[in-house]
Amino acid sequence: MTSPVSVVSGGSRGLGFAIVQSLLARGDRVATFSRSTSPQLDALLAANPECLHAARADAASLLQIREFVAGVAARFGQIDHCVANAAIAHEGVLATMRDDEIESMVAVNVTGTIVFVRECVRQMLVAADGDRSVTLISSVVASRGSPGLSVYAATKAALEGFCICLARELGPRGIRVNALAPGFLDTDLSASLAMENRERISRRLAMQRLGTTADVAGVVSTVSGSGMSFVTSQVVGVDGGS
Ligand SMILES: NC(=O)c1ccc[n+]([C@@H]2O[C@H](COP(=O)([O-])OP(=O)(O)OC[C@H]3O[C@@H](n4cnc5c(N)ncnc54)[C@H](OP(=O)(O)O)[C@@H]3O)[C@@H](O)[C@H]2O)c1
Repeated sequence: MTSPVSVVSGGSRGLGFAIVQSLLARGDRVATFSRSTSPQLDALLAANPECLHAARADAASLLQIREFVAGVAARFGQIDHCVANAAIAHEGVLATMRDDEIESMVAVNVTGTIVFVRECVRQMLVAADGDRSVTLISSVVASRGSPGLSVYAATKAALEGFCICLARELGPRGIRVNALAPGFLDTDLSASLAMENRERISRRLAMQRLGTTADVAGVVSTVSGSGMSFVTSQVVGVDGGS
């Protein structure tokens, strides 16, 4: 039996890289794309040449997404799990946010994600059976809010609605769709947050610490795994109890 194929957007660093590592560790063949590579992804690729596929593509380019997913299907012959992780965040109050900042967040976080999922789902539908899933990476700010993140939160809330509808659409075909809503994680995306804000956030959490990318990647591996075969249409908070 061949091992499952998982496709992860934005796997060069941060949470996406941790997800790639975790899915490789569970025995999947994994494919990922990002606009640029990273030393850690290059090292992982060198150590796993047969089961890791990495390419450069921009989630804002629908053509590049289509070509990437077609390349994965051609190389691995199937797609079983899709993890839509790539996103960008421009922080700032709405009144001063530029058009191009709003447009780029919608293009990458919403349109790029939806088209990436569609391309993966088309491949999943070719397979007659087997455990298949879509996991969307949302954010705690979609439901809890945070000043300066209204547009970013809007893109993540859009994915949560997408998740719930798509789960209904794909359930009869045996494909599960869930979203994870992580709390603050220490990655490049959140690097602008001052140390005092980090301490304030962690004091408010039940777990009294900020999450790590490994905390969230472990949940991706579990939620997309066959042990969760009756779990769909869920938005799972991975936020240390916010
Ligand atoms: N960090 C947090 O506190 C936090 C909290 C809640 C949810 N999240 C969510 O978790 C996910 C991962 O965030 P992160 O913190 O790991 O971000 P990150 O460190 O900035 O990494 C983002 C990844 O996505 C890729 N990416 C960004 N724009 C892309 C594009 N246009 N096309 C292709 N790839 C693109 C990046 O690679 P390139 O730049 O090379 O393209 C990188 O691999 C996101 O969905 C984010 O919204 C993060």
